[in-house]
Amino acid sequence: KQTIRDLDLSGKKVLVRVDFNVPLTKEGAVSDDRRIKAALPTLNFALEHGASLVLVSHLGRPSGKPEEDAAFRLDRVAERLQELLGRPVTKVNDTVGPEAQAASSTLAPGGVLVLENVRFNPGEKKGDPTFAAALAGLADAYVNDAFGTCHRDEASMVAVPECFPADRRAIGFLVEKELQILDTLLGHPKPPMVALMGGAKVSDKILVIENLLPKVERLLIGGAMTYTFLKAQGHPTGKSRVEADKLDEARHLLQLAGDKLVLPQDHLVSTSLDPSAETKVVAGTEIPDGWLGLDIGPATAAAYGELIKNAGTVIWNGPMGKFEDEPFRKGTVKVAEAMADSAAVTVVGGGETAEAVEEFGYAEKMTHVSTGGGAFLECLEGKSFNSLKVIPDR
Ligand code: 3PG
Repeated sequence: KQTIRDLDLSGKKVLVRVDFNVPLTKEGAVSDDRRIKAALPTLNFALEHGASLVLVSHLGRPSGKPEEDAAFRLDRVAERLQELLGRPVTKVNDTVGPEAQAASSTLAPGGVLVLENVRFNPGEKKGDPTFAAALAGLADAYVNDAFGTCHRDEASMVAVPECFPADRRAIGFLVEKELQILDTLLGHPKPPMVALMGGAKVSDKILVIENLLPKVERLLIGGAMTYTFLKAQGHPTGKSRVEADKLDEARHLLQLAGDKLVLPQDHLVSTSLDPSAETKVVAGTEIPDGWLGLDIGPATAAAYGELIKNAGTVIWNGPMGKFEDEPFRKGTVKVAEAMADSAAVTVVGGGETAEAVEEFGYAEKMTHVSTGGGAFLECLEGKSFNSLKVIPDR
């Protein structure tokens, strides 16, 4: 793909589509700035080469009701960016309106402008060409550095770059890095490759599992989807969460995977979801009546840890249990620890899993923590994205 290195940047206004869709606290402060930090190499490169920046991002999923949408304004994000860049950042309250136009027309080299949440405009979701042309009209060139949004066909991802001549469209360093890592994982990973799949639903992972199976040595299962698999095998699952309408799909995956798919050999069970409720560890494939599984057990965590230690590549998506609550997080912590200690190439992706690794303090010890949630999963499914098709190859 054409990258930002290939663009003529000096004296140019560059519209950079970033993914600053970051988690916020109840008070509206940025609680995790990983995605903002991840865009800095691209932003700094452009600034150092004499460009000015018009930054476009969404935040959350605005409803269109002004009183609710105030929480999705980008002011706090722009403040955090200003701290991280160490230079002034101007934030305007519209995207293609008079404020944005005035601010972009007076933007000097080295200047940074953050437009308002692009999803406040109905044209964004619809991929509306008129809206796209207005947005593109604010700059001379386009850079996509929003890896987390690459699976969306929204205007700022597809129709906006199409408004620029081919030699003025590129990907940024973050998108380049994420794609390179995924390419290696899916194309020629260091063997043996082990995939660790957790989370609540089998249904979210069917395509990922199907695509990964031929490439992996082992597929280790955790999280609530375990109980759907157990139920599909005919085992009692007590009060555990089960996707009753996905048992056929689970059976299909079990048959397809054969020995490659590894289910937990023990479980942490509780009498309720309440973190103060009674818990115990049960071995085997049966969850007793009146109990629900909420984490992998210690023997499973140790066995998965051993496989992770001996792997060449480990890819992880989805927590091993209900890790938001202390009593149910040991399994997720243990596998994160095993990955951090492993000499394997370790890649973590998907919003929740990346957040967990960050929270436990292991992010720095992974080969790569993806900034993508849905985008990361769709890459693992083997999908290709329209947002990248519109960026020419070099
Ligand atoms: C994400 O967080 O996965 C991206 O920012 C995309 O957000 P969306 O799922 O609201 O499109």
